[in-house]
Amino acid sequence: MEIPLYFYMAYRNLDRLSPGSEDTTLKTLDKLDLNPDDEFNILDIACGVGTSTILLANYFKNSTIEGFDLFKHYKESLDEKIKENNLSDRVFSYQMDMKDPDFANEEFDIVFCEASIEIIGFKRGLKEWKRLLKPDGYMVVSDVSWLENPSSESRKFWKNTYSEIDTIKNKVQQIKNEGFEFINYVIVPKKDWNDYYNKLEKNLNKLNSDKSAKDFISQLRKEIQTYRQNSDDYSYVFYLMKMVEK
Ligand SMILES: C[S@@+](CC[C@H](N)C(=O)[O-])C[C@H]1O[C@@H](n2cnc3c(N)ncnc32)[C@H](O)[C@@H]1O
Repeated sequence: MEIPLYFYMAYRNLDRLSPGSEDTTLKTLDKLDLNPDDEFNILDIACGVGTSTILLANYFKNSTIEGFDLFKHYKESLDEKIKENNLSDRVFSYQMDMKDPDFANEEFDIVFCEASIEIIGFKRGLKEWKRLLKPDGYMVVSDVSWLENPSSESRKFWKNTYSEIDTIKNKVQQIKNEGFEFINYVIVPKKDWNDYYNKLEKNLNKLNSDKSAKDFISQLRKEIQTYRQNSDDYSYVFYLMKMVEK
């Protein structure tokens, strides 16, 4: 599947397609009770430009990492990074749909998904992806969550954008309901959001004259404005969980 041109232009030259940073991902991975020198099989779902896929490979130095995205463009972007970093012996890319990941049951020690589970929905993602985990495997996913009692502006925006936005407490309960042991969580800090939106906004300013992208751009501008006015209300939160052996 090809990426729409306006989508490509909006996110052009960004090193990530969501608020996040190396510091935040490393802080999250450090909370896993794992020796990063051990050998693991790791899956990065909806890898985007592949920044986190490579980060995973550098952190877990002896592991195999498989990353996929729906769009060919992003698969190719990961391919370039694999080549630049000489990781072709243990990092692999695919074009695939998260709704039908073509991997065997119990193939992975860690399933990682940053800022993308909302595409399938948090509860459905946990339910459908847990088959990919070994009996003692880990899932690390980030999802938009309420941090405080949200303003009516935040509520209105997210009601129309992602109906599964919820409090951390309720997300943790959903994790437990799906049969996982909840380990910990990490809130993506405001700095990551501000850095990301500042870069995205620069791209949007260059796109203003493109009429075909009008609705898409105005939705992104609304997203940025809503965050800037309500940044205490919500954030992406990384949730770390472990399969409970039956
Ligand atoms: C917000 S971006 C996050 C990308 C990356 N994880 C990051 O944090 O930079 C969402 C990603 O999901 C991908 N995507 C959208 N629908 C998908 C699907 N059905 N299956 C796999 N990937 C999908 C998009 O192409 C995009 O790369």
